[in-house]
Amino acid sequence: MILDSEHILFWMDAIRNSKDPQRTLESFWKGQIRSKEWLIQNLRSHIKKVITVDICGGWNGVLASMLFQSDIPCKEIRSIDIDSSCEETANTMNKLEHMVGKFQAITADMCELSYNADVVINTSCEHLTQDQYRQWLKHIPETTLLVLQSNNYQIDEHVRIAESLEHFEEQSGINVLWKGEIELPLYKRFMLIGNTKG
Ligand SMILES: C[S@@+](CC[C@H](N)C(=O)[O-])C[C@H]1O[C@@H](n2cnc3c(N)ncnc32)[C@H](O)[C@@H]1O
Repeated sequence: MILDSEHILFWMDAIRNSKDPQRTLESFWKGQIRSKEWLIQNLRSHIKKVITVDICGGWNGVLASMLFQSDIPCKEIRSIDIDSSCEETANTMNKLEHMVGKFQAITADMCELSYNADVVINTSCEHLTQDQYRQWLKHIPETTLLVLQSNNYQIDEHVRIAESLEHFEEQSGINVLWKGEIELPLYKRFMLIGNTKG
């Protein structure tokens, strides 16, 4: 995917200005970036109009910035993270869109919010317990296109990994329109695109 220098300069500002630049750089591991490119490539064919997007567990706002730079027409993106240190970094990462009201990072528990965006993305499913996930899913309307990612990477912060794509599908309990997996250097990443219909 093609990234433009104007956006990249704001990525550098966001890293430089963050409280812990080394930690912010974790958003740029090969596996993280490849997973987001893979998401954008596979989401493309499901999008037929200009969309609004909510990104849950949006972290430092890298996925939002990549979406804005992709050929998916995004009118507005909201990036939600429970960690308050992400808000300013994500707003700087997406400064060009933040300045014109197209991007907003907010600090909140994704399980406590309601959703009315056209597309809701959660690439942090491995960070939610099954109970938290169920609570979060209750807030997603049937008309929303859902994009979920998880992985089989066993580390302390991952409270609910998926062992396989089938396992992820079982955990997620959504109506699946598309599913896939990719092999990354340290783990497998799984993705489901679907909705809560039925
Ligand atoms: C390590 S990051 C992102 C991992 C994921 N693989 C990705 O690239 O999107 C996981 C993020 O989820 C956030 N998070 C965890 N639980 C959350 C919750 N209940 N509500 C909102 N954000 C949450 C964390 O603060 C963290 O920034």
